[in-house]
This record gives sequence, structure tokens and C-alpha cells, in this order.
Amino acid sequence: MKYKAPRGTQDILPGKVEAWQSFESISRTILERHGYREIRTPVFEQKELFLRTVGQDTDIVQKEMYTFADRKDRQLALRPEGTAPVIRSYVENSLWKERALQKLYYIGPMFRYDRPQKGRYRQFHHVGAEALGSLSPLVDAEVIALMEMLLRAAGIKRLILKINSLGEAENRKSYTLALKDYFSGKRDQLCPDCRVRLEANPMRILDCKVPACNQLSRDIPAMEQYLSDQDSEHYEKVQHWLGVLGLSFEKDKNLVRGLDYYTRTTFEFHHDELGATVALGGGGRYDGLVEECGGPEIPAIGFSLGTERVLLAASLDRAGKDDTVDKRKGALYLAWLGEGVLEAAFKLAFALRNIVPVEMDLEARSLKAQLRQADKMGVSHVLILGDQELVSKKVQVKDLTTGDQVDLDIEKLVEFIHTKIKCYDTDKAPERIVDKALGGELREALSFFVNSGGN
Ligand code: HAM
Repeated sequence: MKYKAPRGTQDILPGKVEAWQSFESISRTILERHGYREIRTPVFEQKELFLRTVGQDTDIVQKEMYTFADRKDRQLALRPEGTAPVIRSYVENSLWKERALQKLYYIGPMFRYDRPQKGRYRQFHHVGAEALGSLSPLVDAEVIALMEMLLRAAGIKRLILKINSLGEAENRKSYTLALKDYFSGKRDQLCPDCRVRLEANPMRILDCKVPACNQLSRDIPAMEQYLSDQDSEHYEKVQHWLGVLGLSFEKDKNLVRGLDYYTRTTFEFHHDELGATVALGGGGRYDGLVEECGGPEIPAIGFSLGTERVLLAASLDRAGKDDTVDKRKGALYLAWLGEGVLEAAFKLAFALRNIVPVEMDLEARSLKAQLRQADKMGVSHVLILGDQELVSKKVQVKDLTTGDQVDLDIEKLVEFIHTKIKCYDTDKAPERIVDKALGGELREALSFFVNSGGN
């Protein structure tokens, strides 16, 4: 019996995971620079939370949620998105009391029973941010610009930003009626799902991927006619501030997004090669959601981007350049020869790991085999330790990138590592690394090394 990863999921293997780590790490830095702090919520929640927030009639709830009952028959769902859990936590923990404008971010897996294809998975990953506590259009512009900064930091060049405004809940209602009117005349041309949507929630027809419904959606009445003066003013200001920040955008009247909680601003980023149905990420305002979840009347806006799609778009923009990481980054291989030096080598490898990644042979292979292994692992330098070196209190250092080999006084090893090899702590002053390393295990290992040599 051979096991496979479940359909629509993937393993992120070494060699590829580095791109994930680097995107997540730059995302954290950028988000934190903008005042966002991380929040981690469970990967499953009460199913009801998503019915109430994402919406009963959405595809996410109707077709894509992984739901289950636990042993006590509690109805639960794997989170299909991160906004509702963040709001649940914000309300449950009264986070509005802590600061008026609460900026939170999250990075983690989401689950949707979607049809797997390029850029579409059943377990995928979000980097998301939510700013709670302000109605200001400046926040809208800041959130959109922040999302753009993350996408650019990933290396994506060909970005398209689409924006729209859905108005406040009241205006949405009159717009929904207008949509119902429009589609009622074309009922026969709608797919069976959309006929149900027409009665339950006509706006959801705009998400339909069936070509005939898609075609009909192109000529819908423009939402802008249904916006109140305040909504229009807000939308104008968002556009103004996006311009101030130098962001260009397209207005898209069909951008209602696939979740029910949006009010006013909605936005999405696309990549021209991935097409209109595969957004890199999106978001919008949801001024009524905190109240809907039992909290006070607090406006909010946020976005999530899909890491799989971001990395895919970034690799397209690198135009075929290999996205596996350069393996020959600062790392050492400690080759040892003969049982007589094993104890010294084993201890030295552990101690050196305080300052640099160290690989070591654990199978007593020949020097040739160890060098081959070091080369395969892609390390830049090999330390060679044999009886001879132990006696002379030296170590041989072979630079695999140039092939050069030198004899190094063991006392000079830390300094050598610092100047020639990139250490974990390169941002710290060399003396401090040496002090720290020599003050602890490494000093002990070196003195052990020196003492265990013959006279
Ligand atoms: P969403 O548009 O449903 O929004 O998802 C955001 C992004 O997640 C999409 O643009 C896409 O990149 C990625 N994504 C969605 N489904 C899949 C999938 N099956 N496979 C791969 N990637 C996928 C939200 O989830 C909202 N919570 C965004 C938000 C935050 N609105 C306000 N705050």
C-alpha cells in the first residue's frame, strides 16, 4: 500500500520551502513595520461562524467547506479563510479595548474543497492582515498599498490592481434588488445554481464561473449609481490616496468578491499571465462584521493573499530562472579520519553549530566519500581533521568553491569562520560572536581538542 498526499494538497519539500520561508519572513518584517502584530487562531472553528460571516449562499459555505462533527457532536469546520476567526477572537478577547486601531496579521493554512488545478488547492496558505477600528479612507489606501508592497517584495512585477465599492449595507440592499431585476429577465439563461442564487442572494451570481452566467454578468447595472453620497465620497478618497501613493488601478464594477461580509471598498490583485479567475489576493472593508459577531459597532478592512499563487507569479516574473535556493551558502562540513579523532570532531561540530551550520559524517566514511557528500550538500567549506591535525593543533580547511586548501591554527578557527563564511549572527560584531562562542561550549570544545592532541 502506497500512501499519497490527499488530493489538492502538496508537500513543500526542502529546496522549495526556502522560497516560502523567505516570503513569510519578508512579509512579517513588512507587516510589522506597518504596525501589524501577529495573531494565531485555531485551524478549526464552529461551523456556524462561517455561515454567519462568509455567508450561507456563498460557494465557500455551500460547496467548499470541510465540516465535521466532533465526538460530542459539535459542528465544526476547517477554516476556509482567516477573517472570520480573527473577528471572533477580537470580539471574544475584547481587543478593541486594548487599542483603538487594532492591526493584526496571520500566516497559515486554509482549507477549501475546491477543484484542484494550477494555483487552486484544497489546503492553501494565506498571509493576511486586518485593520480594525477606523472608517478613514486612508486606512483603505494604506491596506491596499501594504498588500502591493508584499507582492512586490515577493518579486512580482506584472501586477494589476482592481478596485470597486459595494456601498454600505443599505445601499447593497437596493443594488441587490436592481441585480434581481436584471437577472430575472434572463432567468432561463442562468445555470441551475444561479437560479437558486437569484432568489437567495443575486450578488453571488457574479461569482459564477459558468461561461453563460459570466457573459450575462458583464452588462449588470453599475454599483456606482447605487452608492450614497457618503459612499461615493469614501470611494473617491480611496482613489485619491491610492494616487498619492503612486498606485495605478482599474475600476471593476463586477468585483463583489466571493464572501458576503464586504461593505464599501473591495480590491484584488491579479497577474496578467494567471488570468482574471486566479487572483493573487484580495480583500475589502467589512464595517458590519464585528457587530455581526457580537461585538460593538467597529469598522474594519483587510486582505489575504494566497502564498501558492504569489510564489507561482513570482516564478513567472523571474522568467524561467531557477527558483531553488543557492545551496553554496555559508555552511561547513566536518570531515574526520579515524576513530582517534571522532570524540574531538563530534564535540567540535556541536560547539561550532553555535555560530555556523555544520554537517558531519556519522558513518566513518573515507575522506573521498566525505568530500563527495559535502559537495552534494552544497556546503562552501570542509574542515578536515585527522590524527596529524590533532597533534599539530591545526585543522585543514578546503574551500569547495575554489578548491584551495589551507592549514589553520585551531585557535584561529572562529575568526576564520567569521571572516570567510557567513555565520548565523553576521549582523553582530565579530568580537561579540567570538566572545560568545569562545565563552561557552566552543571554548570547551577547542580546549578539549587542544588538550587531547599528543605532545
Ligand atoms: P479570498 O479572495 O477568498 O479572500 O482569498 C484570498 C486569496 O486566497 C485568493 O486571492 C487566492 O490567492 C487564495 N486562494 C483562495 N482559494 C484558494 C485555493 N483553493 N487555492 C489556492 N489559493 C487560494 C479571503 O479569504 C478573505 N478572508 C480576504 C480578506 C481579508 N478580506 C478581508 N480581510
